[in-house]
Amino acid sequence: MIYNNPFSQLAESVSPMAIQFFVFAMIALVIIGTLLDIVHKKNVKYFFENAKKAKKSAKKILTTGEKTSVILKTIASDIATTSELGAGKRRAAHLLGMYGTILFWIGSVVMIFFYIEPSLNTPSVWPIIWHVGAIMTVLGGSWFWFFLRVDVYSEAQPWYRIIKADLFVLALIASSLFGLIWSFLQSLNLSERWDDKVFLVFYIVSNLVLFGGVYWSKFAHMFYKPGAAIQKNLAEADGSRDNLPPPADAPEQFGLGIKREEPKHY
Ligand code: HEM
Repeated sequence: MIYNNPFSQLAESVSPMAIQFFVFAMIALVIIGTLLDIVHKKNVKYFFENAKKAKKSAKKILTTGEKTSVILKTIASDIATTSELGAGKRRAAHLLGMYGTILFWIGSVVMIFFYIEPSLNTPSVWPIIWHVGAIMTVLGGSWFWFFLRVDVYSEAQPWYRIIKADLFVLALIASSLFGLIWSFLQSLNLSERWDDKVFLVFYIVSNLVLFGGVYWSKFAHMFYKPGAAIQKNLAEADGSRDNLPPPADAPEQFGLGIKREEPKHY
């Protein structure tokens, strides 16, 4: 299964154009959901007003070279390695899920737009990228959802309690998991089978929930977080610090109590 392009096998019974249209529809849903979210929360308006205000208290004007260097460092660290999450399980789970999703989506787009025709041979690297990406997403997302999300990890809520905030992570896990199961069942090539079609429907529905739910879910954090990290590091470099006070110039003495328990109460 891992060497099979599941979309080209699907294209034997479904029009390739319909599959490609589905991808465009999902992209449109993300754009619409994010724009509605921006209008509703007014977060981008606040973000730019705040950045403008902070600029007034800048202690130095950054050159284009300095700005570029700050942005490149932010991309390499804050964004590519989600350094905001510190060292440890939370960051490892996020990286697994984030890179898994990126591989899964890139694999999908390449296989759907370049190798969808059943007569074409798909280089095996693309199905491998797609399947490995899906497995990474399921592992990273499940690790986060079952063990690390704050209401379970810090607030002692049972793992099976589902709230609206779980929409993004659960839809993400579902779309990868159903995609994998669909690909596996379809690759068995058994005639008169209906189970692969059931999982194809689950795969489609979970994608509709994931991409159609942007307005209600945490999906858009993947756009907001990088923007906020760049702004924060630019504000650090020009001395404005977003109008926040500098860290105290004093030794970090918290007493022995700090060692009693790992900090996990947010
Ligand atoms: C393809 C890109 C990404 C995917 C698939 C992804 C996925 C996720 C998921 C599933 C969660 C858990 C959401 C929840 O609380 O239920 C999450 C949380 C988070 N993400 Fe991302 N993310 C992406 C990009 C990014 C980027 C670029 C950043 C930072 C620059 C980032 C920073 C965070 C942070 C700080 C959290 C909160 C983690 C926590 O509560 O432990 N993410 N992300």
